[in-house]
Amino acid sequence: MKCIGVLTSGGDAPGMNAAIRAVVRAGLHAQVKVIGIRRGYHGLIHGEFEEMTPRSVADIIHRGGTVLRTARSEEFRTPAGRQLALDNIRHHQLEGLVIIGGGGSMRGGLALSDLGVPVIGVPATIDNDLVGTDLSIGFDTATNTVVDAINKIRDTATSHERIYVVEVMGRDSGFIALHAGLAGGAESILVPEIAFDLDDVCGRIIDGYERGKAHSIIVVAEGAYGSPGTAKNGESAGFRVGKYIREKTGFETRITVLGHLQRGGTPTVQDRILASRLAAYAVELLLAGKDRLLTGMIDNQLRATPLDEILGQTKELDRNMYELANVLASV
Ligand code: F6P
Repeated sequence: MKCIGVLTSGGDAPGMNAAIRAVVRAGLHAQVKVIGIRRGYHGLIHGEFEEMTPRSVADIIHRGGTVLRTARSEEFRTPAGRQLALDNIRHHQLEGLVIIGGGGSMRGGLALSDLGVPVIGVPATIDNDLVGTDLSIGFDTATNTVVDAINKIRDTATSHERIYVVEVMGRDSGFIALHAGLAGGAESILVPEIAFDLDDVCGRIIDGYERGKAHSIIVVAEGAYGSPGTAKNGESAGFRVGKYIREKTGFETRITVLGHLQRGGTPTVQDRILASRLAAYAVELLLAGKDRLLTGMIDNQLRATPLDEILGQTKELDRNMYELANVLASV
């Protein structure tokens, strides 16, 4: 191979820049030209291509977001859009693509591979919901951001002896809620994957109060009631839970929706290392003639899993961890 492309797509994730840097430098190290495609699949369709140099990825390893920008492209879902993308790939003589993103981005990668373009995916989503890797790029930074927020909320929760409901991201998955909830010492954690009863949550709050707990923190995944936006009356999951608790227990309750601040910020060491390793490995696989694979880290070993295999699957939450969080909050 003489020339490959790299793009970031879907929701940005801290560490995407470290991944771009690794693709560019690993490619150049192997004497391969690397083209950056701006705005994901949108840029592929509209010809937003630029040749990358070692200097174009200087000073980005520590920055959140993605210097290549990102987008969610509706046009790429159409056959006409995909054909335009293919024409541009051929025109610029790209012989393979590294796609950095989450599940939707990997589906796009498969569509390109179906058209004859070799594709290797690199998992980057704060939701951490991709099968084929223990961790996705961005998840560690996002959960640390959430725990930092919970720490701050805890200060004011203690001072006022209130209930705080903290809504976190996770459209269809509760990884952020579970990990940040356990690390942040939450009293209850509500996730889409595990059925819950708000009366139990209220019961735990009242029990805790009777045992002398002055406050409670409840972490709710935005998708706890199904995809965000489909919640009852258009209410977000956090507001729905907070209102119920206030009405049922009579305790003073406040709701904090952390929203997009979870997607920004300087990536953690773990995310930078993960991104560097997964992205350099993607280049290695592409140059070895591989196609339709997702790079991943399983038990701290680099792995490549067929994209066809992972896309139909749902990544399981660790139920033992969920139980542990409940046990630790129950006394
Ligand atoms: O998939 C990552 C994610 O941050 C989800 O947790 C969230 O539901 C979604 O993206 C938000 O997307 P957007 O930035 O397009 O509103």
